[in-house]
Amino acid sequence: MVSAVENSLAMPILFLALCSLCLSCSAFSPQDYSDALEKSILFYEGQRPGKLPSNQLLKWRADSGLHDGSSYHVDLVGGYYDAGDNVKFGLPMAFTTTSLAWSVIEFGSSMSARARMPEPPSVGVGDPNMDHHCWERPEDMDIPRNVYKDELLCGASWIHRASQNVSYLAYIQSNGHTLGAEDDDFSFSWDDKQAGTKVVLSKGFLEKNIQEFQLYKAHSDNYICSLIPGSPNFQVQYTPRYPLHVQNRGSSLQSVHAQPGKIDCNYGFQYLYSGSPNPNVLVGAVLRGPDSKDNFADNRNNYQQSEPATYFNAPFVGALAFFAAQSNAN
Ligand SMILES: *[C@@H]1O[C@H](CO)[C@@H](O)[C@H](O)[C@H]1NC(C)=O
Repeated sequence: MVSAVENSLAMPILFLALCSLCLSCSAFSPQDYSDALEKSILFYEGQRPGKLPSNQLLKWRADSGLHDGSSYHVDLVGGYYDAGDNVKFGLPMAFTTTSLAWSVIEFGSSMSARARMPEPPSVGVGDPNMDHHCWERPEDMDIPRNVYKDELLCGASWIHRASQNVSYLAYIQSNGHTLGAEDDDFSFSWDDKQAGTKVVLSKGFLEKNIQEFQLYKAHSDNYICSLIPGSPNFQVQYTPRYPLHVQNRGSSLQSVHAQPGKIDCNYGFQYLYSGSPNPNVLVGAVLRGPDSKDNFADNRNNYQQSEPATYFNAPFVGALAFFAAQSNAN
């Protein structure tokens, strides 16, 4: 997992990348968008803990984390590893789940049956400090698996949208000030869902004419517009080239199928620092990407550029579904 501050910097870049996609639609063929959509979802198979299903497509992964929660006498097996590490975080995964569910709500009709969405996750499992002192495959994990808790106002907005239950309207009205009505938002991230929550509420005004939510439309407009002018503008290209040194434990170490003997915590670090390409391709991973000067080192130990995360892919899925459907219709 990247820190909240770093993550909040990363998200505007993702959104800029999406803006660039809009501006350069002609560079993409309809098949490119469909392919990118499938791969953006396939990525989640590489992040799967627990007992893998027989239809798992990324064959280099195997079962792992089969005892999660057992020290607390609860079953927390399953879910998704967060990023390049072997931890299942609560808040980041909540953001990922929210973004993916939102993608389905907005663009689900544009997604083919082949786009198999990830299944809902469990709560947070693992100790990030201990995990970051190990470079080992998920299958070899033997460090403690702790449990974390999770948050709310974003949830109330979604429940209200789904149920129109006035209790949630009242809750949002009395707690909406924590959304920072007067504050500008500069990012939408797992650590700060305010911008997204305001967009959900503004849709309540636009689509259901809920006057109480009118002020959130102005906030959402400001947020979207703030991302474009004067920002570094990354062009997104569709090319056969991709990063070879993705900062992800499972992808960078030999598959347990190829090398069944345990690779322990410290021994694995030589692979983190190695210049060799990852033995297993983490298909579809969106990485944190180039620096502000558009340089990308493709260096595994440079997590600021080379780490993937479930919450980097998640906002792309809906956008790719939209563009795939647009270009298929044309
Ligand atoms: C609305 O939500 C509240 C809080 O969850 C619940 O107690 C109440 O039964 C709900 N009302 C309806 C009509 O579903």
